[in-house]
Amino acid sequence: KLFLNDLNCEEKTVIVRVDFNVPLKNGAVDNDKRIRAALPTIKHLVDEGAKVILMSHLGRPKGQRVEALSLKPVADRLAELLGKPVAFADDCIGEVAKKAVEKLGSGEVLLLENLRFHKAETDNDPEFAKQLAELAELYVNDAFGTAHRAHASTEGITHYMEICACGYLLKKELDFLGGALAEPKRPFTAIIGGAKISGKIDVIKALLPKVDNLIIGGGMACTFLKAMGREIGNSLCEDEKLPLAKELLELGEGKILLPSDYLVTDKLDFDAREIGSENIVAEDAITEGLMAVDIGPKTMETFKDIIEKSGTVVWNGPMGVFEIDASAKGTFAVAEALAEATKKGSITVIGGGDSASAIEKAGLSEAVSHVSTGGGASLEFLEGKALPGVEALTEA
Ligand code: 3PG
Repeated sequence: KLFLNDLNCEEKTVIVRVDFNVPLKNGAVDNDKRIRAALPTIKHLVDEGAKVILMSHLGRPKGQRVEALSLKPVADRLAELLGKPVAFADDCIGEVAKKAVEKLGSGEVLLLENLRFHKAETDNDPEFAKQLAELAELYVNDAFGTAHRAHASTEGITHYMEICACGYLLKKELDFLGGALAEPKRPFTAIIGGAKISGKIDVIKALLPKVDNLIIGGGMACTFLKAMGREIGNSLCEDEKLPLAKELLELGEGKILLPSDYLVTDKLDFDAREIGSENIVAEDAITEGLMAVDIGPKTMETFKDIIEKSGTVVWNGPMGVFEIDASAKGTFAVAEALAEATKKGSITVIGGGDSASAIEKAGLSEAVSHVSTGGGASLEFLEGKALPGVEALTEA
């Protein structure tokens, strides 16, 4: 596929699909990680003298105009980050959008209103895609976080643009995630966590043949424990997934590593009381009334050792209830081990979503090789699925 650097953008109108689906709080951007991640592409286009039109979705307004999901606060934040004004169009198509584009000068930036205020965006409606395409001469996709969606702004539009290219962020994401999977420096370790195995089964299946170690933590480890015949007390368990967990354990024999001890409690009220040694139990001692909420200290040591000796590490999903400090230690220990491994020259890649929030909370986002901006997209990529947004670029 074409890459941003291949384009001559001077004086050209370039429409860029970005993923500015960011959390808002009191009408302002609460976390600008995704906006900052898109800056290299935007700055490049500005420096090249392009007229830059940005488009994104925010939330899931389902085709309705929802004021709380307006991208206006994002335009304000972007202007601060760029150190220059960012124009805003109240609609992403029609006269409003066209007029805003006409006013754009070379090196100027315009953000269009939330694409999903039109149902046609998620329906991948050809007429809507055509209207977006008509706003510009060149199309750049830099929205890795939305690459798993075949929507008008990610897939449909490519059929109506003569030149379509891949932006810096999208390329970086594909290089890191793709590189880790295609030619991993060994040993290759994947760490999969989170509450439920249902969303991660396909990732585990796809990774097993590729990795040397597959570490499983988080609530989902208890479903595996139960599949092995252990008591898990009140811990989270997806009973309907037990046969599958058994199958995965057989498939991953010699590669799958489960926690050997856990932090347990009878209720999640750590803020109100001290954690004692009675809260740390071996994996075969999660008795009635107890629930596992984090990995234990012995497991932290084992996991750290494996991670620090790995050439490539891919991490998706926390080790425990990391939103609460008392049960965040396991997740932070893994984050620290990844930072250590990176220092020793390993490639460390964090899938988006909860593990990206966890590494941010640990203050270690800059200490690993790459933190993906895509939650669902990075999961689907790790599952080995084709991403429609990326496929469309290749075809175009
Ligand atoms: C995300 O946050 O994962 C992306 O922006 C995609 O959003 P969606 O799941 O609403 O399509």
